[in-house]
Amino acid sequence: MGFGKDFIFGLATSAAQIEGGAFDDGRGPSIWDEFAKIPGKIHNNTPPTTACGSYRHFDRDLKNLLDVGVDSYRMSISWSRVLPEGKGALNQKGVDYYKRCFDKLLSAGIKPNVTLYHWDLPQALEDENGWVNRDTVGYFSDYAYKMFELYGDVVPLWSTVNEPIATYVGYALGGFAPGRTNEKEGNQARHNILVAHGAAVDAFRASKAKGDIGIVIDIWKRHALTDSPEDKAIEKDQDERNWKFYTDPVLGGSYSDYLLEHLAAEGTLMDIRPGDLELMHRPIDYYGLNVYNRVPVTADKQAEADFTQGGNFLNNKTEYYPKAIYDAIKLVNDLYKLRIPIIVTENGTYAIGSEPRDPATGMIEDDDRIKYVSGFLSWLEKALDEGYDVRGYYLWSLMDNYEWTAAYNFRFGIYETDFETFECKPKKSALWYRDFIKKVKEK
Ligand code: BGC
Repeated sequence: MGFGKDFIFGLATSAAQIEGGAFDDGRGPSIWDEFAKIPGKIHNNTPPTTACGSYRHFDRDLKNLLDVGVDSYRMSISWSRVLPEGKGALNQKGVDYYKRCFDKLLSAGIKPNVTLYHWDLPQALEDENGWVNRDTVGYFSDYAYKMFELYGDVVPLWSTVNEPIATYVGYALGGFAPGRTNEKEGNQARHNILVAHGAAVDAFRASKAKGDIGIVIDIWKRHALTDSPEDKAIEKDQDERNWKFYTDPVLGGSYSDYLLEHLAAEGTLMDIRPGDLELMHRPIDYYGLNVYNRVPVTADKQAEADFTQGGNFLNNKTEYYPKAIYDAIKLVNDLYKLRIPIIVTENGTYAIGSEPRDPATGMIEDDDRIKYVSGFLSWLEKALDEGYDVRGYYLWSLMDNYEWTAAYNFRFGIYETDFETFECKPKKSALWYRDFIKKVKEK
């Protein structure tokens, strides 16, 4: 079986990470523009103001997508570019920008896969208590409905929210925008965003949109390094509090008893209103899986030292564990008896700082990235061979971009970006991915 002719190969980015033009043509600030002003939060205190300049250079991105030969491009809409206040009047220039992007992609034969929320809440809504405020659910579904009415006849694939865990990191841990550190509010924020997802699915069904809609949830499966009860307990606890917080209600219909009991005991349980669980569990057309790695856990110092010395690591010191993609696909199927297809909406790896170049051609030789991606694709192929319903794979990312708190220092691209001139050049992995896709299509 393996990759069939209809399998979607894509590349992914997100608005805040590539667009730049943060204050162009009436765009309102997002929480990342504000968060970047807090000293010490972001590498070199660099704000996302310019990023890859895609707001002005979309044709450059389009050409690179065509050169790689992808079937689809996953991008996101900046909420505050189309609605500078998060609600109220549309910003026509922002609306026109996305219309041009989608039209150009479609005329080039590339399917847009559009995410409505990739972490960039309008700052105006954060000023009203952001995702902790229940009203944000309504603001989000209003925004979503507007987008479905504007672009729903041309965009074939949508997702509501990318990685809802980012709200928890932003409201409970302070690690992401908006940089708040209240555990209970963090739980409320992540609950609210899942309710907002469901409300947006309802808006989709009520709109004129014709395509498919899903949500993107990342899975970082914990793996106990020993079989000790202590290690197994850590594995369970972290699985429950991390990815299962989202997949349980969205794919399974309820939070786990374990989670509810623990949060209640800790005094951090969120307010769950009647009807919320039904909303979060609204039927969706596909599940978008982001998968990057597993997370080994242990309380055993020796086991940890053995793993650190004996494990299989990439140059960036992260573990090379390509089976993570197979494990995650199997896991969600086993846990939730999935009846919808999976699309792998993100997978990729990064270099810290600069990458080695071929002295003769000057091209970046990112052999580690090629090893990583080809390893993951092999395990994905195994899942397909076993009959799992996976329809697509998007490599993260088209180009080096604004990697959140690492700014331009962590480079995920298969194209290198010159952040001054906005020139983008292929790395060896871009040619490799192009050839890989070509081979599958010629089969
Ligand atoms: C996010 C991307 C991010 C990537 C690499 C994912 O969690 O959706 O925005 O750049 O991981 O860290």
